[in-house]
Amino acid sequence: MPGEKVTISVIKADIGSIAGHHKVHPDTMLAASRVLAEAKKKGLIKSFYVTHVGDDLELIMTHYKGVDNPEIHELAWNAFKEATKVAKDLGLYAAGQDLLSDAFSGNVRGLGPGVAEMEFVERPAEPVIVFMADKTEPGAFNLPLFKMFADPFNTAGLVIDPRMHEGFIFEILDVYEGKIVQLKSPEEMYDILALIGTPGRYVIKRIYRKTDGEIAAVVSSERLNLIAGKYVGKDDPVAIVRAQSGLPAVGEVLEAFSFPHLVAGWMRGSHHGPLMPVGLKDAKMTRFDGPPRIVGLGFQIHNGELIGPADLFDDPAFDETRRLAQIIAEYMRRHGPFMPHRLGPEEMEYTTLPAVLKKLHDRFKPYEMGYKPVIKHTEELTGETHE
Ligand code: 13P
Ligand code: 13P
Ligand code: MG
Ligand code: MG
Repeated sequence: MPGEKVTISVIKADIGSIAGHHKVHPDTMLAASRVLAEAKKKGLIKSFYVTHVGDDLELIMTHYKGVDNPEIHELAWNAFKEATKVAKDLGLYAAGQDLLSDAFSGNVRGLGPGVAEMEFVERPAEPVIVFMADKTEPGAFNLPLFKMFADPFNTAGLVIDPRMHEGFIFEILDVYEGKIVQLKSPEEMYDILALIGTPGRYVIKRIYRKTDGEIAAVVSSERLNLIAGKYVGKDDPVAIVRAQSGLPAVGEVLEAFSFPHLVAGWMRGSHHGPLMPVGLKDAKMTRFDGPPRIVGLGFQIHNGELIGPADLFDDPAFDETRRLAQIIAEYMRRHGPFMPHRLGPEEMEYTTLPAVLKKLHDRFKPYEMGYKPVIKHTEELTGETHE
């Protein structure tokens, strides 16, 4: 209906995968698709596309129920539940990983799945790109989103398109404090950068066009490690970006991923590595469970229908980005367990540091002037004797 607001919801979860954290099994996608097909038949959703990146099962849906709608969230929850049953039957790895609760309570936020949703009045032509990344965190979108919506060296339209020339409003979430702030670009660009340069804490949540408040981008921001209070899988993120007609062109949006920047995640959610843009055929994790990858699917939304997708990174134009990512991956890997390849102690998903410190507590001696090293035998050091 013209003038009516359509909603696009991208809801994702890792409900189990083949060969470790490598890749979603097609039968689990089928199980989720059946649930969504039924909902489409009943008229709850207008259209859907089920896909994956690495071990993350992705539900892309359009409907007229608005964001944070309990029926839509319950639908996604049920799709993940059905997919989990299949994952358990097949003995997939970490089956049900991201479903932290047994019962649905009105909203999937906080239960494990990641969510990005936006609602808008469809333009006469409505290009939308859904980005999905594996083995990284929501803050991984900070750098490319900044380039798309604030950097004229990336986005020519900021300078030459009168409809974008006023700039954009960045909504930034402090994931530790649960607080959100709106900042204007270009006026407050340095403040924006002061925050989003710490992507593990400050995450771009939404971007709006300044002239009319039109929504342009949204990122999932669930932090599973904080939600559950323990490691339950890295919060592999999704984002939705609208393009063209007073927003960055699709080519400007994609250009922001031509530089494979370092992101947190990769092996055991505890390492920095380059973000590699790939087509769906390469949306699988291998080397050191990575390197972290991102897929971009382009759609036109027409009368609420998802038309597409176009697999946007499945293109030789990104070959050199991938090659550079490979070189960076090699360089970072050579650091082994050393920072900055390994994340800092406060950000690691897995760590033995507290246990090591506890074990060594009594063996740490004050180091002061006059300290003389004494070389001791193993049994004196550890109190153990070896035959
Ligand atoms: P068209 O003139 O083909 O619509 O393209 C405009 C544009 O945005 C190219 O980046
Ligand atoms: P996922 O968060 O993608 O399940 O990966 C976990 C992991 O430990 C990879 O090494
Ligand atoms: Mg996994
Ligand atoms: Mg994953």
